[in-house]
Amino acid sequence: MKIELDTIYGRIVDHLRNGTTDAAAGVLEVPAHHFTDPGHLARELAVFRRLPLAVATSREIPDSGSFVTRDILGIPLLIVRQKDGGVGVFRNMCRHRGGKVEQEEKGRKPFFVCAYHGWSFARDGSLRGIPFDEQYGAFDRGCRNLFAVEAEERHGLIWARLEASEDGGVADFLGEADERLAAYGIDGLTVFMEQKIDLAINWKLVMDGAIDVLHPQFLHAEGVGKLIQTGAAVWLDLGRHGQSYSARKRLARKLKAGEPIEAGWRYLTGNLMIFPNMSVIPTPDHLEHWTVWPHLTDPGRCHVHIRFLTDPERLTDEVAARINRSWEILRQAATEEDFPMEEMIQANAAAMPGADFLYGANEVPTQHLHIQMARELAALG
Ligand code: FES
Ligand SMILES: [Fe+2]
Repeated sequence: MKIELDTIYGRIVDHLRNGTTDAAAGVLEVPAHHFTDPGHLARELAVFRRLPLAVATSREIPDSGSFVTRDILGIPLLIVRQKDGGVGVFRNMCRHRGGKVEQEEKGRKPFFVCAYHGWSFARDGSLRGIPFDEQYGAFDRGCRNLFAVEAEERHGLIWARLEASEDGGVADFLGEADERLAAYGIDGLTVFMEQKIDLAINWKLVMDGAIDVLHPQFLHAEGVGKLIQTGAAVWLDLGRHGQSYSARKRLARKLKAGEPIEAGWRYLTGNLMIFPNMSVIPTPDHLEHWTVWPHLTDPGRCHVHIRFLTDPERLTDEVAARINRSWEILRQAATEEDFPMEEMIQANAAAMPGADFLYGANEVPTQHLHIQMARELAALG
């Protein structure tokens, strides 16, 4: 990766010197109703359900019986580490009459008991016991295991596919992004902190905000905008996915002053965008990991899950203090600036769905999501 970072660094330096940025072929106009139309959302959800989606990190369920529960696109899931080290993903739905078999967000259990009438299920999802079994009458107990969801663990993430598909596995899905994700070593990282937020915003606007390289100077003038250079970015098209690189402002200042620069790639910040809803931003001390989940029926709502992942072996008090400061910068930028702006955009889209939003040629990272979603929707038929 180092060699390649040197190349990207060279491209960024050219941009900084020339006042240029990587560009798309032209502008893109996205209809405002793509953010407000329930029919459009339903088609997007059909795309989501066919793709492997990162629903948890491997180290969230370290030991046999460790579990997390998640509601993914309206589907309650139970994600459990198996005895053999594999992973089981099940619908968190009791096969008696539909209660959740696990109500905690995370933990470790030898088996799962539904709170309603006490049916219990083993870690592998099989029906384990029924209180008052002899009173229930005749039915096939072997057909009452938890519903399994197709899942695969790769690069420290647990990927679930909500609808069975003929398509290849996660490696196929990631394509050119596969080795980039591997390089972040997520399998060695634990959750340092996380936040789950429900927002009155279409999911794509939050994704746009996470990769928008043209706004820090304006919306975050007193914060991130002072650290990251606006309007000089490199975009790597990775097929379905993509990665954008920007420079730290310190690099622009050093260039201008004609100061010598060593290991220039250290002044880059990259954002790996895994279609449709995941963003990974590496920093020296932690990895920032976002997933953005559409609401099941309301295009004007989404659920955001932000995690800071870190290497527990390197977690000194000093490192922890630095990560806490980064979290505070992100929290301030996201909750006080990005999300309020995106809520305004959502309200305007709802008030005028016949309008369109313009993504300039200089906004190639934000164009990508909309272009790729259009391709996936076309492939749905
Ligand atoms: S609904 Fe779970 S035991 Fe009855
Ligand atoms: Fe922002």
